[in-house]
This record gives sequence, structure tokens and C-alpha cells, in this order.
Amino acid sequence: MYQFNKEEYLKRMEWFTKARFGMFIHWGLYSIPARGEWVRSTEEIPKEDYMKYFEEFDPKDYDPRRWARAAKEAGMQYVVLTAKHHDGFCLFDSKLTEFKSTNTKCGRDLVAEYVEAVRAEGLKVGLYFSLLDWYHEDYPHYQDKNHPMRNHPECSNENRDWNRYLEYMHGQIREICTNYGQLDLLWFDFSYDDMRGEKWGATKLIQMVRSLQPHVIIDNRLEASGEGYGSMATGHPTPYHGDFVTPEQIIPPHGIRDVNGDPLIWEACVTMNNNWGYHAADHYFKPAPMMIKKLVECVSKGGNMILNVGPDAYGNIPEESMKILREIGAWMKKNGESIYHCGYAGIEKPDYGRVTRNGNTIYYHMFENTIGPVPLTGIRMEQVKKIRMLYDGHEVPISHSWVHSDYPDIVFADLGPDPVLPDPVDTVLAVELKE
Ligand code: GLC
Repeated sequence: MYQFNKEEYLKRMEWFTKARFGMFIHWGLYSIPARGEWVRSTEEIPKEDYMKYFEEFDPKDYDPRRWARAAKEAGMQYVVLTAKHHDGFCLFDSKLTEFKSTNTKCGRDLVAEYVEAVRAEGLKVGLYFSLLDWYHEDYPHYQDKNHPMRNHPECSNENRDWNRYLEYMHGQIREICTNYGQLDLLWFDFSYDDMRGEKWGATKLIQMVRSLQPHVIIDNRLEASGEGYGSMATGHPTPYHGDFVTPEQIIPPHGIRDVNGDPLIWEACVTMNNNWGYHAADHYFKPAPMMIKKLVECVSKGGNMILNVGPDAYGNIPEESMKILREIGAWMKKNGESIYHCGYAGIEKPDYGRVTRNGNTIYYHMFENTIGPVPLTGIRMEQVKKIRMLYDGHEVPISHSWVHSDYPDIVFADLGPDPVLPDPVDTVLAVELKE
């Protein structure tokens, strides 16, 4: 009988809840058609037609050190790469299939080079692995919810052997847990309809994973998807419970708690444009200022944000994405202290922005200025040890102006005469409280 050990769990999660900010990388054959990672399913492309991308795949510019440096310079603390997405193409040298990067023109184990590069930059290493596999003959085709051949009766499931598929899937997960050193994070994707939990052989799978990678943290998609929290939320974690909840393309309105009202660990996964995999026509990129505020929002609600890039067929992160990463990095260099090791402050959100907290220091994030001194809600005058502008450390005095004499219970900070904030995106006040 599985006994959930909360102390062990929280220790395992420590780096993750301190890291707060990661990079997701969706890359594979689908980067050639460049219409998103689901292109084979959305366009119902038969396997034989999809194989032309396998024949062609030769990412001449693939250099994972560039990816890892871009993540590090953006202030990201961990990286998660699609080792295998739903199309079943393996970016690693699996002995269980021919459908892998080492059999393409490039002949390289792309995951091996990736894990080495990310570690070399001092970042935590994550791998995404699809539970679905549209290439494997034993995975349900006809009338499956997502398979490219779901509408093709000629692709009946008559002779498909689900146990043989599970043996393959577990075998590949054993490969990535054995051949690439210590993994910090495994991102399984995703459960749907009755395809969840023990249908995946989840208990046996997790026992194997944890025996090979005792430190690894695992998402909740053996039992959920971007929808649903998983068994951690029920107060009765299963043996394959997700270690964190994975809200997708949304930031939970109020953070995430379990049935007892206790906060759950979560990570919002977000694309920069509207696609995970490279999409040549999708230029709807979210501006860096918006992404900075969304990262602050996640942390203020006690969560992480993993922000996605989709490299092109050659292995290059699109320049639009690199520009956003550079701008986020410039802000993080000056204000990362208000993100890392921070979380929910237990203070009501101020009108002008958000609040994050790390122990005795509260960070008031100002997305806009106030008329007059700045109300630092949620604290009392006698608690305040000092107030500093985070970006340059200069002292910020407490205001004693008459204009707020009607609000004696609120602490106000005096930012001086300039109505324009030093940082137009997010100016952070660090308020240290007395022990
Ligand atoms: C969804 C998408 C999948 C993507 C994942 C990332 O499951 O279908 O393509 O990899 O989200 O969170």
C-alpha cells in the first residue's frame, strides 16, 4: 500500500518551488511542416505521408548550448525538452524503435547533447515524454479521440495489443531514465477519457522511474492533463500522483489548493505565441512586458511558469522568441530576487500590481504608479525594518504626508516627485520586516 511521505515530497520539490521559472522546448519532425506539434492529427496525415519529414530531418544549426544559454540569460532555472511528442518520433537513441533522431540524416542523439548542454549551464534538466504515440501500431487508431487515423475505419484496432504498447512505452521511459544521467524533471503528457492512471500501468511505471531517478519530480499528467488537478488535490495521493499540477495556457485565478484548502504546487505552461511546436505563420507573440507580469502573477499565487519556445526545422529558436527572452532576462537580472524562492505573500493584491514574498521580505510589484505615496497594504508601521528600490537598492522612505492621514493603519512609501516609475514594466519595492 502506497504511503505518501509529505516530508520527502516537499524536500524533493524544494528546488522547483524556488526556481519558479523554466523553459519548455517543443521540437521535432513537426518543425518542418511548421504548423504546430499536432499537425499530424489536425490534418489527419497518414503515417506514410508524415515519413517524408523523417527522411528530411537534418537540423544543421542544432546547438543546445545556445538554447541553454538563452534560457539562463532569461533567468530560467530549468529546461524541459520534448524527448518524444505525440507523433512518436524519438529525439533520443531508443533501442526499441527505428523512428528516432539517430536514424535521420543528422544521426545524432539530440537528447544526449541537450542534457549535457543544460547541465553545463548549471540549469535543472527536464524531459517531456508523450504517453500517446501515433506512430506505434499498438496504440489505438480508429475512433481514438486524437489519433490522426481516428476517422479511418480501415485503421481498426482489431489486432492492436495494448500490453505490447505499454511494454514499449515503459521500456522507452526506462531508457531515458537510465541513459542520460540524473534527470531533475519528467513531464508526461497527457491523460484523456479512460486513458489515464492504471491504463498507462502508472503504478508500475512510477515505481520503475523512482527506482532509477529517486530525485526526479513528475507532473500530474499520468492522471490528468491541462484539465484536472490529479490525486494530490483529493487529499488521497495515488502511487503515481503528480508532484505538481499543470494548468495549461491559463494562470489559475486564485492559485490552486487541495480539498483541505492547503496550497498545491503548480506550474502554468504557456506558449509565447499560440503554438508549442514551431508555426511559421503564427506571429501572435505575447510581448515581454506581459510575460514578466504573468511570471509575477504566477509567483504571487504560489506557482511556477514554464514558458515555451518552438525551434524551427534547423534547430534555431525564432528571433521573435529570442527577443522576448532577452527582455525578460534584463528585468530578471535586476529583479529576480522578487521571483526566486518567493511565493504567495498572504497579502491582498494591491490596485497597482502584485505582491510576492520570501520569508521576512515582501516585494511590492508596481505595474503602475499611484497618485501620491504608495500604500503597502498588509503590513504595520512597527513591522518595517527598511524599504529599498530593488533594481538599484536605494533607500525608499516611509511617507508621513498629510494626504494619507485618513489611513493611519496603512504604511505608505514615498517614491519622490517623479510620477514616472523607474521601470515601466514592473518597479519592485523590497520591504524587509523586523524578525
Ligand atoms: C498539450 C498539447 C501538447 C503540448 C502540451 C504542453 O497537451 O496538446 O501538444 O505538448 O500541452 O503542455
